Amino acid sequence: MSKAVAGTLTNAPLHVVILAAGKGTRMHSARAKVLQPLAGKPMLAHVIALAQHAQAARIHVVYGHQAEQVRAAFANTELNWVLQAAQNGTGHAVQLAMPDIPDDARVLVLYGDAPALSMATLQRLLAMPDLAVLVSNTAQPGSLGRMILDAGKVQAIVEAKDASAAQLEITTINTGMLIAPAADLRRWLAKLQPNNQQKELYLTDIFAFAAAESRPASAVYTSDYTEGMGANDAWELAQLERYVQLRLVRELCAKGLRVADPARVELRGQIVCGQDVELDVGVILEGTVHLADGCKIGPYTRIKDSTLGPGTQIASHCDVDGLTTAGDCQIGPFARIRAGTQLAKGCKIGNFVETKKAQLGAHSKASHLSYLGDAVIGQDVNIGAGTITCNYDGVNKFVTEIADGVFVGSNTALVAPVKLAKNTTIGAGSVITKNAPEGGLTLTRSEQKHIAGWKRKPAIKTR
Ligand code: UD1
Ligand code: CA
Repeated sequence: MSKAVAGTLTNAPLHVVILAAGKGTRMHSARAKVLQPLAGKPMLAHVIALAQHAQAARIHVVYGHQAEQVRAAFANTELNWVLQAAQNGTGHAVQLAMPDIPDDARVLVLYGDAPALSMATLQRLLAMPDLAVLVSNTAQPGSLGRMILDAGKVQAIVEAKDASAAQLEITTINTGMLIAPAADLRRWLAKLQPNNQQKELYLTDIFAFAAAESRPASAVYTSDYTEGMGANDAWELAQLERYVQLRLVRELCAKGLRVADPARVELRGQIVCGQDVELDVGVILEGTVHLADGCKIGPYTRIKDSTLGPGTQIASHCDVDGLTTAGDCQIGPFARIRAGTQLAKGCKIGNFVETKKAQLGAHSKASHLSYLGDAVIGQDVNIGAGTITCNYDGVNKFVTEIADGVFVGSNTALVAPVKLAKNTTIGAGSVITKNAPEGGLTLTRSEQKHIAGWKRKPAIKTR
């Protein structure tokens, strides 16, 4: 191929082949290797996201082990699934995808278990007009393929198992990721032979074929070793997790997020932060979380799928899932907020309060020890300590409605369905089974007695 033709390759449709058929024995897990989670989603999801960002015309996933598990995890993603029933090597895996790839395409090969690659590095690989491979330098090349380079160009890749003692000393390694013109790749793949220690078809053998045609591949270097790394066991996965977490925290810090310690925050989803948002240590954000300007999250609090309005503060040790606040709310410490909790401005949810499908109007408070489930609560309501909405009779769930300005005394059971009208006060210790009218005092209470001269029993002597 002439240089001019090769130069047009960057405009060719991009077909991405993701290798994901391997067993991952060393993970020691019932879960498929490529489904092991990283930053809250399967490793393979990160690789698919990279392919999508690279504007792939088509994404081919070569799968094999735990086939059903793997496919089911991406049932809603547009992918071409290529079954590799027996794992006869990386070259065999790519061969199987080739019938679905046209000659005028460019093929990018990624690994389903190498999820930390940055888009910037991938762009450098994609910018190469002809055959190119992504490589890294490492002091511990271990079992990885060694790069045989000449004047920076790839002469061959030798697997550690097939390498000579001298070749094993080479510290530039093959990450496995490559870009190639489809027609050439098809031709080179057809020539593969299992003439190696593992009796497999090695994808890496194509580099010697290309060099023999005077088209040695370019080597593109990762920005650091970890981003090109694959996760073969739980330890490598943990290292990739720390690496990716730091990158995610850094991206948010670049937009103004404040963190007490970048190593002690976990970001496991789509996180959007406004200005002056502060996260203390041990904060875990999961799913889709929006934190508006000035939100402050205390230590060891988990927040999942929530939208917090400006100035919302959540103190330490809270578990928050499915919360919406309008702003300036105060929650915790030690609060459990469950799905469907909606707080208007200025609400307060204190320690040991659990909420579920609970709406609170502006400036309403439940400061201690309550359960508010299936509750519609107005403005300026005070819920005393120990208040329970009894929403469940063992069969059905019912709603408790509390109008504006109600004051519920401590240790009150509100047996739903029940309504407390505006501005009423409920006496402490009441069991409210009927609607309470507007204003005044509603209470249920047995009379207090005093028995004069009553004495405690003496202790019984047992010896
Ligand atoms: C391969 C490379 C090696 C490189 C290393 C980087 C070859 C021959 N060797 O090593 O040079 O340094 O990756 O990690 O290519 N897979 C399949 N089907 C198969 C075999 C593998 O889908 O038949 C997938 C695996 O699931 C994995 C990836 O390909 O995602 C790499 O396979 P793995 O066995 O981990 O790598 P090696 O072949 O040892
Ligand atoms: Ca590997």
